[in-house]
Amino acid sequence: MSKNKIIIDCDPGHDDAMAIFLALGNPNIDLLAVTTAAGNKTLDEVTYNTRAVMELIGANNIPIAAGCSRPLVRTIQKGLKTHKVTGIDRSQLPEPKLPIDERHAVDLIIDTIKSHPPKTVTLVPIGGLTNIALAARKAPEIVGLVKEVVLMGGGYHTGNSTAVAEFNILIDPEAAHIVFNETWPITMVGLGLAYQARPDDQIIEKIKALNTRLSHFVVESLNNYTASYRQQKGHSDHAPVHDLCAVAYVIDPSIMETIKAPINIELQGALTTGMTVTDFRLPIKAECHTQAATKLDNPQLWDMFIDSLEQLGK
Ligand code: BDR
Ligand code: CA
Repeated sequence: MSKNKIIIDCDPGHDDAMAIFLALGNPNIDLLAVTTAAGNKTLDEVTYNTRAVMELIGANNIPIAAGCSRPLVRTIQKGLKTHKVTGIDRSQLPEPKLPIDERHAVDLIIDTIKSHPPKTVTLVPIGGLTNIALAARKAPEIVGLVKEVVLMGGGYHTGNSTAVAEFNILIDPEAAHIVFNETWPITMVGLGLAYQARPDDQIIEKIKALNTRLSHFVVESLNNYTASYRQQKGHSDHAPVHDLCAVAYVIDPSIMETIKAPINIELQGALTTGMTVTDFRLPIKAECHTQAATKLDNPQLWDMFIDSLEQLGK
């Protein structure tokens, strides 16, 4: 079976780091490139974090490129406080020496898509959509070349940055508008799905039992992430590890249920800017290219993740 070729565009972020580990440890994923955009923290911080987590697991041969330092139109907002001052806990991470690709992230994305056969590369954005939107504008031909876009962002009937808007969309709604209005197939792995992606104490214990440098980092990260989440949201649950879900879908789409529905981005609402307006009314037109993920097999997600950590820890 040929591997799924993916590009991760991210802003680590605890859950971004976990998504990178899931991808790198899974035998069915070929991670072609990792690109960054300002989001959870500044571009410099998230690029540093990306290099550090890749270095932790010795992923030396995958290009990493920095992209946009601000949204297309709006001014940058501060990232979610759940991701600490530097975006991720760095106490167990190496000081990264991995080089940053000379190209802008947008160019690395375009070059990577074009250097592979049509419809073989999947884009996996797990941060704001600034780089992806610019890539689609700079080289519109990539829209027809990409296999699909599987993104963590948005959600229907719920928000986290506002009552109805999710962080990755709200941080650059114009970019999200561009991405959702292109014709490539899009799977929106949004909040409703991501809220099901929580570890429990038993899962944390299983990860701890792997007893590797990586598993120690993962346990500490997930625990810290949950501690700030509980403090801020007043929940007693573990924090949802949103970004993991987008990679999991690429590995095995049967891990979630999806519903085909047109999705568009609200840009002008007094209260609803950044909302991913999802239209579940029937009938769905044949040209509909978007689907929303609805239901997750959470035990399978964590089995998959633990398998990856085991592979990487060897
Ligand atoms: C998304 O926002 C970020 O803080 C997380 O990394 C995730 O991508 C969840 O709303
Ligand atoms: Ca993210």
